[in-house]
Amino acid sequence: MPARNHTQWSANPPLETGEWVDSRIYSEQEIFEEENEKIFKHVWVPVCHESELPKPYDFRTTTIAREPIVICRGPDNEVRAFLNVCPHRGMLIERRPSGSFLEGQPSGNPKRITCMFHAWQFDMKGNCVYVAREKEGYQDRLCKENVGLRRLRCEVKFGGFVWVNLDDNPAQTVEEWCGEPFECLRESLNAEPLEVFHYHKAIVDTNYKLWHDTNSEFYHDFMHYHNRITGFNDAYFARKNFAYDNGHVVVGTFEVNYENYEGFESRAELSFPHLPPNQWYMVDLFPGFNFNLRGSALRCDIVTPLGPNKVMIEFRGLGLKRDTPEERMTRINHHNSIWGPFGRNLHEDLIGVAGQGATMGPGTEPRHILHGRHENETIHDEIGMRHYYGTWGQWMNRLPSEPDKPYTATAVAAE
Ligand code: FES
Ligand SMILES: [Fe+2]
Repeated sequence: MPARNHTQWSANPPLETGEWVDSRIYSEQEIFEEENEKIFKHVWVPVCHESELPKPYDFRTTTIAREPIVICRGPDNEVRAFLNVCPHRGMLIERRPSGSFLEGQPSGNPKRITCMFHAWQFDMKGNCVYVAREKEGYQDRLCKENVGLRRLRCEVKFGGFVWVNLDDNPAQTVEEWCGEPFECLRESLNAEPLEVFHYHKAIVDTNYKLWHDTNSEFYHDFMHYHNRITGFNDAYFARKNFAYDNGHVVVGTFEVNYENYEGFESRAELSFPHLPPNQWYMVDLFPGFNFNLRGSALRCDIVTPLGPNKVMIEFRGLGLKRDTPEERMTRINHHNSIWGPFGRNLHEDLIGVAGQGATMGPGTEPRHILHGRHENETIHDEIGMRHYYGTWGQWMNRLPSEPDKPYTATAVAAE
């Protein structure tokens, strides 16, 4: 068929419902706002790793669905999460990305979370411990007990990741939410303490779901020269995609032939515990969190959607805490040579999704994005994305292929 006119270009593809999505799910402000309300305010988000808060009073700040969060380690060694919002007049309390409350600040006391605006202070459990001129202004009408921080559900799980949920009554625990997809890595991640050795972030003009797609489909591996050289063999293409409840997907493993790429070396010696050498596992959690283990290095991507066509992706690299300096350097090299900002793969994926973002920004004409490959559920089968968007449709009550229609089993069956 020759190139198509507008009518032909806009017609539905000869595929089943569920085998394509409408690009408005990536471009519409209303859908983005709804995703924050219906999805991100109710799912477990792996906000950081406990090794980033190694000592009591260490903290990090972040946001989930625009809500500022502070995560801190108490003197009892517990990691807790709170809204980073002052109960007095709504000031953002802690403005640094990370640090320690142990030392006093010009506008804060040691061992306290201090709001610089009117000097209210909180302890590491979120209790308010000081209200400036409390009696003079509030007499007996309001006291410290009335104005604690808003605490958030927080669990440390799966190799020390810190999981936070904005919902006080989440439908599931972290274990129930994603325990099954983590089964392939559980023993390996829990064998001994892990440590973050790499952090960088990218802010990309694209939709967060498109980034998640690059992590769950391998059809784009033609773009990755490194994968073609170290991977493309029967075992590579035989890997399966496994779909789990809640929209999660796991991509099966195989042995990567790193030595086939000039300048690269086998990762066998530093492979994570309980795994055969040079394996490559991928756990993709709905709605946008990825755990990617390549033999000796674990990568974790966390998305924070900033708009329909803007996403912040935080990349962390992790190894074993007990690494010797030499082992750590080797592990960092293994990680960065593929996944660092100048590595072999990561920038190629970023170019891919930035290119999609360039065609699917707000105001662009809706178009079809195809997810219709069937290949026995192996890595070039787009089952992972179909599974993900099915879950997205249920949470949003929208049909991904016609987002103005509600998602119902009958609507899908009727098509
Ligand atoms: S806004 Fe925080 S003390 Fe007033
Ligand atoms: Fe990729």
